[in-house]
Amino acid sequence: MATINQNYQKLPGSYLFSEIARRVAAYAQAHPDQRLIRLGIGDVTRPLAPAVTRAMHQAVDEMATAEGFHGYGPEQGYAFLREVIAREDYQARGADISPEEIFVSDGAKSDCGNIGDLFDRDNVVAVCDPVYPVYVDTNAMAGRAGDYDEGLGRWNRLVYMPCVAENGFSPAIPDRPVDLIYLCFPNNPTGAVATRAQLQAWVDHANRTGAVILYDSAYEAFITDPAIPHSIFEIEGARTCAIEFRSFSKTAGFTGTRCAYTVVPKDLVRGGASLNAMWNRRQCTKFNGAPYVVQRGAAAIYTPEGREQTRQTIAYYLNNARVIREGLAGAGLTVCGGENSPYIWARTPEGMGSWAFFDRLLQQANVVTTPGAGFGPSGEGYIRLTAFGGATDTAEAVERIRRIL
Ligand code: MLT
Repeated sequence: MATINQNYQKLPGSYLFSEIARRVAAYAQAHPDQRLIRLGIGDVTRPLAPAVTRAMHQAVDEMATAEGFHGYGPEQGYAFLREVIAREDYQARGADISPEEIFVSDGAKSDCGNIGDLFDRDNVVAVCDPVYPVYVDTNAMAGRAGDYDEGLGRWNRLVYMPCVAENGFSPAIPDRPVDLIYLCFPNNPTGAVATRAQLQAWVDHANRTGAVILYDSAYEAFITDPAIPHSIFEIEGARTCAIEFRSFSKTAGFTGTRCAYTVVPKDLVRGGASLNAMWNRRQCTKFNGAPYVVQRGAAAIYTPEGREQTRQTIAYYLNNARVIREGLAGAGLTVCGGENSPYIWARTPEGMGSWAFFDRLLQQANVVTTPGAGFGPSGEGYIRLTAFGGATDTAEAVERIRRIL
């Protein structure tokens, strides 16, 4: 008889965003007359840039000809995309990354989950708290998280690094040995950013201890402060200790189109093995490459008009972030994030629990948010709002929240 991966039995409930979707759907069904405004899951709403759709149309037309047809592409991504990424996202910012170190995929969420294939079960994993649940759940599935403590809302083998108001939502380097360190900046969910000095401290620590930093920079396009690094590879020494995940989802509205990339430097070696070679082996075995049409669309983001169009969309979302931040602060809530990030992290009023405030906002304001506790124990007492809605809806949501506070 087949036996199952028992680690799945240890997972609490459902994945955070599925659970929220379930609750919201039940509420909407029971109250069909109420118009919900969704500022919960970080899903974009603005259309793809015209430069992107034009490139995709051209690619579809190519696919309709015998000469232009593309079957299986390179598992690592087409050279035209890997080259432009290396040049524009890294070399142009002083980061020494070559096209062979870039692996194009269908999403940073899957890459963040799949990267665990390269590491054995005994690695000690450190995560920020609050944290994007994918890092935690995928390590739990792999048996690296131990057992879930319902009471504490945490896994007993994970090392949680609290990111709270007292430390400016910046994790402290753990006081015990850890092997894999997940960092995400601009941060999901708090919207905090990391300075060059803070990232340098992480890189130095990882190089000293042999840990590997798994750096998620899916939200780098929202950085407005020129002093804030966009990539871990802008930091000296990162080539020997870090892997970076990037996505076109939030940068260019690709949540439904699906394209991302992971950077694994050739200098990253553990146990005598090249992690670049291992990831290449993994991708060639388990992945057949992102679609040609989609990769053509992604490459168009780097053209002058693609850049300008995506810049305007990011500015649109950042304006929403400002509206939320200022509106909620004006209503008396303590808020952070939203300046270099599409996420606003707001303290619940009067010490209310995250889920209780989530329910109140859903039922009284008909606004969907994400309860902070869903991101980890230190998220309790907060909610997260996204700036990815339409501008009119965002302003109305803020107004509705202000009215009930
Ligand atoms: C979020 O809301 O945190 C993100 O949309 C989730 C994701 O990117 O997978």
